[in-house]
Amino acid sequence: MTYVNKLFLVSIAVGLVIASKIVDNAKPKVLITNSYVPNIAADLLKECVTNCIISLHLFIIFSCETITIQNETKEEILSHIRGVSALLWATHIGLDNELLDAAGPQLKMLGLMSAGYNHIDVAEIKKRGIKISNTPKVLNAAVADTAVLLALAASRRLREGRVLIESGRWNPSDWLLGQDIAGSTVGIIGLGGIGSAIARRLLAFEVKQILYTGHREKPEGKELDAKFVPLNESDSLIKESDFIFVSVPLTNETEGMCNDEFFSKMKKTAVFVNTSRGQVVDQKALVKALKGGQIFAAGLDVMTPEPLPVNDELLTLPNVVLLPHWGSATVKTREAMAKLTAENIIKGLKGEPLITPIP
Ligand code: DGY
Repeated sequence: MTYVNKLFLVSIAVGLVIASKIVDNAKPKVLITNSYVPNIAADLLKECVTNCIISLHLFIIFSCETITIQNETKEEILSHIRGVSALLWATHIGLDNELLDAAGPQLKMLGLMSAGYNHIDVAEIKKRGIKISNTPKVLNAAVADTAVLLALAASRRLREGRVLIESGRWNPSDWLLGQDIAGSTVGIIGLGGIGSAIARRLLAFEVKQILYTGHREKPEGKELDAKFVPLNESDSLIKESDFIFVSVPLTNETEGMCNDEFFSKMKKTAVFVNTSRGQVVDQKALVKALKGGQIFAAGLDVMTPEPLPVNDELLTLPNVVLLPHWGSATVKTREAMAKLTAENIIKGLKGEPLITPIP
């Protein structure tokens, strides 16, 4: 090889090293707010480079650098948020103006790894020109399973039974009967994706009828043979139901919706299940209804506040079954949520339409 050729090859190599440094610095940074987010999200964000390496331009745009928060606190998020282009938000910590200001104007995309977005000020984020996505649908089955689990556990006194065994107070002559789901009337408040998935599951339990309420009649209702009860007539649903499932998003309209008046209309034998958000329920009113025998039992995956303090009265009641907001907490569901969030982020950074944008 001639000297000139050697010089040419060396300059190409040096050029490539410099280019790769420039590219590295140009990579959009994505902050992942929880170390439990399945690896598939970070892998997708980083690996899209292998699909697009054919062009240096695409390489720059599509390959992201990820930073993962190890200790999910606002302080730690604050200390890593500066300069990021996208956030993979897998935390119930609110994304407030302090965090948005700290991030900086290059923040272009917020991927929420949740179906609910009540912890986010959507209007403010949109005002700042940041795109937002969430993860509807992929968690419907897991959350509906949780609702059915809580309904059965509460109606069949799971907590009381376990305590009796553990405390040596199991007395076979004390029957402590539960309530049947077979033959029951079920009321679903909010027949969205999760509400419909709950209804589908309950049909297998041979319920007598399914009623649902909401803003409008849904085609899914017909498919499930469920009867629509308009909102202004929802008293009849509350009064007739043996099981009530709450499956609505938290909004100004739904906040505190299940209050004293609501519980006073329920049957004394009825079971109340909430897998949506704790704030939909006036928790003091629920505790009163459970203590006073106004309703039979409750199964809650969500409560106020979260985490619930260990001295909260809810924990002292025998007729409450609680889960620590685990509705979507299965391996496959969280993987599907992580994947969808990463895919949305990639689309957002590429300037393409999001798969599941928040309207
Ligand atoms: C959600 O995604 O909104 C669920 O509450 C998570 O369990």
